[in-house]
Amino acid sequence: MPLEKATGHDKKLQDRLIEGGEIPRHIAIIMDGNGRWAKRRGMPRIAGHKEGVNSVRDIVEACAQLGVKYLTLYAFSTENWNRPQEEVSLLMRLLLKALRDERDRLHQNEVQLKAIGDIAKLPQDVQDELLDAIKMMEKNSGLTLVLALSYSGRWDITNGVRRMVDDIKSGVVRKEDITEQLIGNYLSTRGLPDPDLLIRTSGELRISNFLLWQVAYAELVISDEYWPAFRRKNLYAAIGEFQKRERRFGLVSEQLSKTNLGRLEYVERFLKSVAKL
Ligand code: FPP
Repeated sequence: MPLEKATGHDKKLQDRLIEGGEIPRHIAIIMDGNGRWAKRRGMPRIAGHKEGVNSVRDIVEACAQLGVKYLTLYAFSTENWNRPQEEVSLLMRLLLKALRDERDRLHQNEVQLKAIGDIAKLPQDVQDELLDAIKMMEKNSGLTLVLALSYSGRWDITNGVRRMVDDIKSGVVRKEDITEQLIGNYLSTRGLPDPDLLIRTSGELRISNFLLWQVAYAELVISDEYWPAFRRKNLYAAIGEFQKRERRFGLVSEQLSKTNLGRLEYVERFLKSVAKL
């Protein structure tokens, strides 16, 4: 079944973004602020995580419609294991439920699912559901959705170094073969392009041990919205900001060609109109 298209005003916004410049090929998101979103409403933290699943659904759909090729979501970090046992356990149940509830819809929309991280640490039922869903969607050709679970950038690099040392010892790799590209091939993101745009929600200015190697050249956009409140209009604003920076190529306005200046003004007008929504 083909991807459900955007309609009405949403379609107009998407068309304007597509017209405005490049749509990032790979977007990575640090989903932050679920707990604070809930606390503000006098609700338990898990209520924030639950509403966060609705944001995940909306953002995945909007990315697929826009033609984003890869979306990587930081769903559970290595550090998150240190949260109170009850919250960890509720998060794992929520993840299991989300996988069960969403898999058919994702599959129908041609999404390909992948996971990065220390998956073996997840509860067995979550691992089984995850691997099942990945298998079911492996031949799909639409958006690749990468879930970072029990993931951290340092874990990824440490793991990669260990495997590389094994390959050096067994003579598969020589010291002279080590290049940036080869190192990339030892990371869990092997085969995926680096993110072009990294979004972090809830206003924090940190990378928090996410994709450390891979975000070397990514544009970083911080949104003040908590993740459960971050919906497609906020995504459009982040992509508009990305396009604005791309258009500038690090130059000052006077140095930009007429075409680029025109495009930049176009994107700025778009950003103003999204901010009013
Ligand atoms: C950060 O908010 C969010 C998380 C640690 C978990 C994100 C998980 C989901 C949105 C649900 C499941 C995901 C998928 C992919 C279906 P926080 O708890 O750190 O919030 P705080 O900083 O306000 O405390």
